[in-house]
Amino acid sequence: MQTVKTAIIGVGARGGEAYGKYINECADKYDIVSLCDRSQSKLDKYSELFGVTAENLFLDENEFFKEKRADLIVIATLDRDHVRVALKAIERGYKYILLEKPISDNVDELRALNAAAKKSGVIVMVCHVLRYTVAIRKLKEILDGGAIGRLITIDDLEQVAYWHYAHSYVRGNWRNGKDTTPMIMAKCCHDLDLLQYFAGAKARYINSCGDLTYFKKENKPDGASDRCLDCKYVDTCAYSAKRIYIDAWKRNGEKDEWPFNVLSDKKLSEEVFTDCLKSGRYGECVFNGQNDVVDHQVVTATFDNGVVGNLKMMAFTKGGGRIIKLFGTVGEIMYDEAADLISVRPFGKDNTDYKISELTDDLSGHGGGDHRMIDALYEVITNGSAAVDTSLSNSIESHLMALAAEESRKNNGALVEL
Ligand SMILES: NC(=O)c1ccc[n+]([C@@H]2O[C@H](COP(=O)([O-])OP(=O)(O)OC[C@H]3O[C@@H](n4cnc5c(N)ncnc54)[C@H](O)[C@@H]3O)[C@@H](O)[C@H]2O)c1
Repeated sequence: MQTVKTAIIGVGARGGEAYGKYINECADKYDIVSLCDRSQSKLDKYSELFGVTAENLFLDENEFFKEKRADLIVIATLDRDHVRVALKAIERGYKYILLEKPISDNVDELRALNAAAKKSGVIVMVCHVLRYTVAIRKLKEILDGGAIGRLITIDDLEQVAYWHYAHSYVRGNWRNGKDTTPMIMAKCCHDLDLLQYFAGAKARYINSCGDLTYFKKENKPDGASDRCLDCKYVDTCAYSAKRIYIDAWKRNGEKDEWPFNVLSDKKLSEEVFTDCLKSGRYGECVFNGQNDVVDHQVVTATFDNGVVGNLKMMAFTKGGGRIIKLFGTVGEIMYDEAADLISVRPFGKDNTDYKISELTDDLSGHGGGDHRMIDALYEVITNGSAAVDTSLSNSIESHLMALAAEESRKNNGALVEL
């Protein structure tokens, strides 16, 4: 069996935890030989886990890119660095790139990367992991099999979950538009990609509305403190950092997993959390006003073949998981991730229901998508005839949709033609 030499740049929640750990488990297929991260503690943690030697660890991307270190590079740095790093990887001669989404929110960068990848023949797989889940594949198979006739519209509700929104988009990396891509791209390029995947066509028109309504200074409760641990609402506010991190971590069996391990690379304990919440960004009141990204947004896309897709990104949900409904001329399909259900409802005939958990034994990491994508990547690398589902050109389409949605939202929902 061929072993693919792999380098990872950005060994954080995605590069280290989600992909690195699984790649490392697949030791007969992949061999992690080099890591690059700006953080010494990340290099320490993951070099030990993956058995990477000291001379192959890099704090500085310029040092890392002085040589080609592997055949495959996993790029899991933050949103605005992806294209710069990918272009360096192409120049350095990497043959395969696994590139975290979003690619970029800059059209010129999207075009430049596409052109460079085409010219060099480098294969780029974009981490639109949902396409690789067994459940989404099943939906597509049922749709393409004709069970609901001709597809007319799609509804996609992206339930971000109140605590996830607070973690990533009020307190975390994606809270401010000056540092990161717009919410509809950062969180929802997956959903826009799924809309085009199900529609089977390119988007022609987009319009969108949405705003940041709640997580603002003016909504701060009377007498609330700037930090949760010394706030009088510490045990009652839904967004209290103590409740979201310390209490939830204890309730969930004190596991070393996302989102808890985003706060620290140390072994997690109540003491470690308390230290982080006393001084770091994750202990701040959600009404401090450090954030500016929308907390709800609706996008309507009309595709070339007349299919209309509707996406609602919603911070204010108790749990996470998408609900997707496909409406066809002779039936409908309902997918509810949290309810563990795919229901096929042909008109005038009996329904067929599937439990998602019975379709696969691995629902970890985006419904199993993180791992299945790494499996698919191996097929692409070792079997010349396997195509990349989430190729650069496919993925750029969903990014153009996101940019059009953001343009429309900023112009009070004006229609944008792609
Ligand atoms: N595919 C998905 O479903 C999915 C889910 C979550 C996040 N993401 C994306 O994955 C990317 C990484 O997110 P994350 O949650 O892992 O963030 P993170 O902050 O946990 O990890 C990013 C890591 O990159 C390192 N880094 C940043 N710039 C660097 C540079 N120039 N050189 C070397 N290291 C550098 C940081 O030190 C950090 O360890 C983001 O772009 C995010 O939008 C994708």
